[in-house]
Amino acid sequence: MSELDLAALREEYARSGLTESDLAPDPITMFRRWFDEAVAAGLHEPNAVVVATADADARPAARLVLLKGLSDDGFVFFTNTRSRKGEELAANPACALLFPWHPLERQVRVEGTATVLPDEEVTAYFASRPRGSRLGAHASHQSRVVASRDELAAAYAEAEAAFPDDVPVPDEWGGYRVRPEVVEFWQGRPGRMHDRLVYRRTGPDLEAWRTERLAP
Ligand SMILES: Cc1cc2nc3c(=O)[nH]c(=O)nc-3n(C[C@H](O)[C@H](O)[C@H](O)COP(=O)(O)O)c2cc1C
Repeated sequence: MSELDLAALREEYARSGLTESDLAPDPITMFRRWFDEAVAAGLHEPNAVVVATADADARPAARLVLLKGLSDDGFVFFTNTRSRKGEELAANPACALLFPWHPLERQVRVEGTATVLPDEEVTAYFASRPRGSRLGAHASHQSRVVASRDELAAAYAEAEAAFPDDVPVPDEWGGYRVRPEVVEFWQGRPGRMHDRLVYRRTGPDLEAWRTERLAP
């Protein structure tokens, strides 16, 4: 595709609007509402979320993961804790999440702090994964350089032989809960006059939320 084609690609957003009176008292309730609408609309993998991290030198990196839990305490995903993202979160737990629900002309942006999930939560979720995924977690030292596809296949076969029945949780496998500090709900509107309503923590214990509107 030429640069010209890209420049001409644009959509007018007019599906709906987002006003202050639509907002739930807290962003998790609001997120659930929009998430349910994303599911109802049949979006492909509505729980796919971009996770942006920055290393100790503030160099950013982003990748997709799957949201696997949501509670008042935050957004949960599972991964390899010694992967690039794991190393970056260990050095700098500040991170951002982006849910790109563009068929609904919506995005949700989260800024927060990641903490490592307790072992019980990791073990419970790991046990729910298909056997192939559990073996793959043993075979893949995520983000490390591998010599070839054959090396990976051999590591998988080794894991298969080592764990004919139960597959234990690998040491380097785990997950994170991102406690939100800022959550923005973005709805596309005609003429690029989009709605952007943002929740920010407030109050003495930072347990309450205030909201504000940002220019699009
Ligand atoms: C739709 C989709 C879902 C993904 N879900 C996960 C996930 O839940 N956990 C994970 O570790 N990687 C997931 N990945 C792979 C990551 O995008 C990434 O390649 C991997 O985590 C290594 O990233 P890192 O080297 O920055 O740590 C997913 C990729 C896609 C395209």
